[in-house]
Amino acid sequence: MLSRVAAARGERSPIMSTVRFGPDFVWGAATSCYQIEGAATEDGRGPSIWDRFARLPGKVLNGDTGDVACDHYHRYRDDVRLMRELGLDAYRFSIAWPRVLPEGRGRANAAGLDFYDRLVDTLLEAGIAPWACLHHWDLPVALSDRGGWESRDIAGWFADYAHLMAGRLADRARHWFTFNEPNVLAWLGHATGVHAPGIRSRDATLAAVHHINLSHGKAVEAIRDAAPAGTQIGVIASLQPIHPAREDEAHARAAETIDLFWNLAMVDPLLLGHYPDALAAMLGDRVQSGDLETIAAPLDLFGLNHYCRQYAVPDPDNPFGAGLTAPPDDRPVTDVGWRIDGSGLADQVARIVERYPKLPIYITENGAAFPDGPDAAGAVHDPDRIAFLDEYLDAVARARDAGADIRGYFVWSLMDNYEWELGYSKRFGIVYVDYRTQDRIPKSSYRFYQELIDRHRSG
Ligand code: FCB
Repeated sequence: MLSRVAAARGERSPIMSTVRFGPDFVWGAATSCYQIEGAATEDGRGPSIWDRFARLPGKVLNGDTGDVACDHYHRYRDDVRLMRELGLDAYRFSIAWPRVLPEGRGRANAAGLDFYDRLVDTLLEAGIAPWACLHHWDLPVALSDRGGWESRDIAGWFADYAHLMAGRLADRARHWFTFNEPNVLAWLGHATGVHAPGIRSRDATLAAVHHINLSHGKAVEAIRDAAPAGTQIGVIASLQPIHPAREDEAHARAAETIDLFWNLAMVDPLLLGHYPDALAAMLGDRVQSGDLETIAAPLDLFGLNHYCRQYAVPDPDNPFGAGLTAPPDDRPVTDVGWRIDGSGLADQVARIVERYPKLPIYITENGAAFPDGPDAAGAVHDPDRIAFLDEYLDAVARARDAGADIRGYFVWSLMDNYEWELGYSKRFGIVYVDYRTQDRIPKSSYRFYQELIDRHRSG
């Protein structure tokens, strides 16, 4: 089950060698709606900005769209069966805003709400806790056309949506996240433009940063209002150490800029109640009196997505003059060029523990893309992914040993899916998806994860 190299050396996986996580540790897997659901025009779902963006020439590899994706909308029962066999405690999914509110606000779509009802009930019947995320980047087109994240009005629209969903599901779904990676949504959607809505503008980015944060704060209030007491609410951020790609002044400045927008722009105001000085100066009077109190509404948990260290370069085409580049040396990388290095996760957790008030941390995404495919017997062997998970889970265990309050781990992803601007070309799943037949084939990493969970359950 280990990587070919380690297996050839006769090594045993460090993470399998002993039980390293306590009995309450939450073992999970994560997905998101646009990446797996498909059924893009069925049962009254409205269009999202990803439906539109994916159709613009040159934006997504091969022009791939999420129209069908993994067809999870129809196959969710089979997918939950795979989760149950895997032994998951929890499943992190996202709700498609345009499926439940086709115009983003106003009229709710009963068929869309019913789908999430059925999903939640099916999970509970399988003994799996549903962890719901309200927004994983698929903004209704109708709201984008009214200014999207650039408009301050969106905070009210998002709060209404949050209220609707918590009122509907929080009697059974006890864990909620407002946003998946609000930082990535702001930066890739509005500064680099590689994600929907595909904007490259300084003003749009700054407006998006603040309005996403405000939307989060208002949604927390709305969930608390609509959900039973004791509902656990958090946010999910993608954080990683940012290094200058070269040791000089210009690269150091680029790294500071990326760190500001990627790591600090959302988490500082949410958890500390203020923006970093440099950002506060740029935001100016976009921040109105009372906003920061709303944004810093108390949370119950913190979701950390982590993949790799990142390397910054000056980029004159970026509205803030900074961009990311490939790792500067030839250490191993995944199929998306991300460096494999569990110490990045450990360093990131240490920074969170030092900088922010103590909230329970859940690793809400971690995983790797590799070019997997079935062998002649139809099996999918992915030793590199197993080695990756082994290394990163070892880092999680060490961080816990060092005192970090990490209470769970969600692998990204349950199954291969639509990887945004890279379409279907990159496979992150522990279950292989044949997109022609929609057959699912559990990879050897699925067996690894299953055994790991089982060992912890049986003590
Ligand atoms: C994260 C996203 C997720 C997926 C992984 C690989 O940034 O939240 O949807 O694309 O990266």
